[in-house]
Amino acid sequence: MTQAQLPAPSADALAASEQLCQHIRQQIAAQGGWLPFVDYMRLALYTPGLGYYSGGAAKFGTAGDFITAPGLSPLFGGSVAATIAHVLAESGGNIIEVGAGTGQLAAQILAELERLDQLPAQYGILELSGELRERQLQTLQTLVPHLAERAVWLETLPSEFVGVIVGNEVLDAMPCEVIQLNDGAWQRRGIVVNDEGFAWENRALDPIKDAAILATCARWPQIPGYTSEIQIEAQGFIKALSNSLQRGMILMLDYGFPAGEFYHPERSMGTLIGHYRHHTVHDVFHYPGLTDLTCHIDFSAMYSAAEQSGLALDGYTSQASYLLDCGILERAALLDSKSVEYLRTAAALQKLLGHAEMGELFKVIAFSRELEGATAPGFRGQDRSGEL
Ligand SMILES: C[S@@+](CC[C@H](N)C(=O)[O-])C[C@H]1O[C@@H](n2cnc3c(N)ncnc32)[C@H](O)[C@@H]1O
Repeated sequence: MTQAQLPAPSADALAASEQLCQHIRQQIAAQGGWLPFVDYMRLALYTPGLGYYSGGAAKFGTAGDFITAPGLSPLFGGSVAATIAHVLAESGGNIIEVGAGTGQLAAQILAELERLDQLPAQYGILELSGELRERQLQTLQTLVPHLAERAVWLETLPSEFVGVIVGNEVLDAMPCEVIQLNDGAWQRRGIVVNDEGFAWENRALDPIKDAAILATCARWPQIPGYTSEIQIEAQGFIKALSNSLQRGMILMLDYGFPAGEFYHPERSMGTLIGHYRHHTVHDVFHYPGLTDLTCHIDFSAMYSAAEQSGLALDGYTSQASYLLDCGILERAALLDSKSVEYLRTAAALQKLLGHAEMGELFKVIAFSRELEGATAPGFRGQDRSGEL
């Protein structure tokens, strides 16, 4: 679908996007006319009041640009709660959810932990977007009003956290570097301004300052024009979470692959894409602030970031295997098979578990510190750790 065929934004949305473009143009000028893509992506998604996540875009659900798992069925969060309950029984402590979106996952986890009589004293939320922080509070007050007071919005990570840190589709929303092989050299992709708007322009990598990036690219297919991403912020984020975790688990769910599959000769254009009103957009300059930008996750890189901080790998598997082992089907079977809710759940399960939908593309990874108990629910089925 060409840009002309995509739904047009409202006049207000268009004006907000133009305001953001103006801000980005100023930043590019202030940096001497060129900005690394990672900085462009940060501005496009997180500029206060204007970025895609920090501004007023609907983002989630049918009226927005994409649907995430918690929006499909409460059984998703109910299943994730099975892992959390298992860990909290051993470690004690609290929960921190990172990048909580609409707050639906928080509500689902709290509701299930209440049913299991394992509510933590505090459910911390670390969220970059002020607009989403407000939405999360509203969701909790609507869906689980008696539990909403357990939620606390954090400004930073605690220095010695005990419990479970959980995040769904948060790593993929973090700014990434884009690197391309040209004339036999790996180059950093960046953004310039020209008469038509924003445009790509490559710059050489510095053999000293960019040694880590060059070492990574040396393992990629050496195919002229090969383009891919390094999730530099997501790696740093995993390290920050790992350093914060004194005892317990980090549980991350997202789409992506291990390095061998990610940096494959056939994936020569990388995985960076936009989402706009439920369409995939390949033009990363499409209405900045109104279009989500995202790249898939290299789970091997996340594993190595956690390992460097002394964490153990507790499990790595597909979303389908994870949810099945958490008992999602058994939870669905408790519903009245003649109810509308049952039919909705059946459709959601098809999406969450289907091999061609989210079941295989999405993975679940768990890291832990000082946990010695049995393998947590979710990871007792198919173990894919060997692929990392
Ligand atoms: C794609 S949304 C997913 C939201 C939610 N977890 C879900 O499953 O619907 C990404 C979320 O991560 C948040 N986010 C991105 N980077 C973050 C960071 N460094 N710290 C905290 N939240 C972040 C965004 O603001 C947004 O809430």
